[in-house]
Amino acid sequence: MFKAFAHGKVILIGEHSVVYDKQAIVLPLINQTLSVQLTPSHTMSLTSDLYDGPIHQAPKTLAPIVKLIHDLQTELKAPPVHIIIEHTLPISAGFGSSAALAKALTEAFYHFNQQPLTATKWHTWIQQGEIYAHGNPSGIDTLATLNTQAFVYQKNQPIKRLAHQPKGYLVVVDTGLKPPTKTMVMTVKKALKHKKAQAALHDLSRFSNDAIDAFESGNITGLSDALNQAHQALNTLGVSSQRLNSARKEALKHGALAAKLSGGGGGGALIALCDSLKNAKAVKSALDGFGPTLEPIKLGGNTA
Ligand code: MEV
Repeated sequence: MFKAFAHGKVILIGEHSVVYDKQAIVLPLINQTLSVQLTPSHTMSLTSDLYDGPIHQAPKTLAPIVKLIHDLQTELKAPPVHIIIEHTLPISAGFGSSAALAKALTEAFYHFNQQPLTATKWHTWIQQGEIYAHGNPSGIDTLATLNTQAFVYQKNQPIKRLAHQPKGYLVVVDTGLKPPTKTMVMTVKKALKHKKAQAALHDLSRFSNDAIDAFESGNITGLSDALNQAHQALNTLGVSSQRLNSARKEALKHGALAAKLSGGGGGGALIALCDSLKNAKAVKSALDGFGPTLEPIKLGGNTA
C-alpha cells in the first residue's frame, strides 16, 4: 500500500491573462489536500466521491484522469491496482484539483512500482494531466502543486518566489457550478476578437504588475485596488457570473478590501482580501450562504 498527498492553490491575480504570457501571483493552499492510495488488486479499479468501480467503466467526466492513469501504468509496466482518492481540497472549483490529482497519482505510481521519479519527470506528468483536463494549460497549476510558497508565474520563465507578503487575511468561497476550465479559456479566446476584451486583457496585465509591486512592498491598499480592478476586467472578458458578482458585492459590503473571482471563473472560487481576522470572520459569515467557505488564510510578514 502507498498513499501520496498533494495540495491545491488560489490564484491571487493573473488567471486567464497568464495563458497570454502575462504575470500571475499564486498562493499554494497547503492545508487543502487530496490523497491517492494504491493497493494491489486483480483489476484496475477506483474509489472516489464521483465514482466507485472498475476503471474501464468510469464516467466520461473522468476521462482525463483515466487517460493519465493508463499512461502511467503503460510507462511503468505496472500491475493492476485499486486507487482510492480522498480530498479536503474542493474539486473542480478553481483550486487546482486536477493538477494536485496528477501530482499525487504520479508519485503514487512511481513509488508503488519502485521507480525513481525526478523533478523534471514529475513536472512533465502533471502537465500532461493538465493537457488532458484543460487542452491549453498555462502551466500555473502544475507549478502551484509542486511549490509550497507564494510565487509569480509567467509562461516559459523561472518562477519568482515572493519572500514578503502584506499582512492580511484571505477568505475563500466556492460559489459552485463551475464550467470546465477549458470552456472558460475558450470563452476568453472568442471574446478577444473584440477590441473591448483586448483592452481588458491589456489592463489585466497592468493590474497584475501593480499587484506584484504592492504585494512585495506590503502595500495592502495597492494590492486591493489591483484585485478589484482585475475582477472588473475578468467580468468584461466574460468569465465572471451573476453569482460571483453577487458574492463579491456581499464581501465588499461586509468589510473586504477587495474581492475577485479566482481560477477559471464562470462560478467556483471567489477570494476576498481583508485587513484583520475580525473582518475576515465577518466576510466569511456573509459568504457562507454562497457555498462552502475555507477558514480565513493568514497572509503576512516574511515567509522566506
Ligand atoms: C486556471 O487555474 C487558470 C487559468 O488561467 C488557466 C491556465 O492558466 O491554465 C484560467
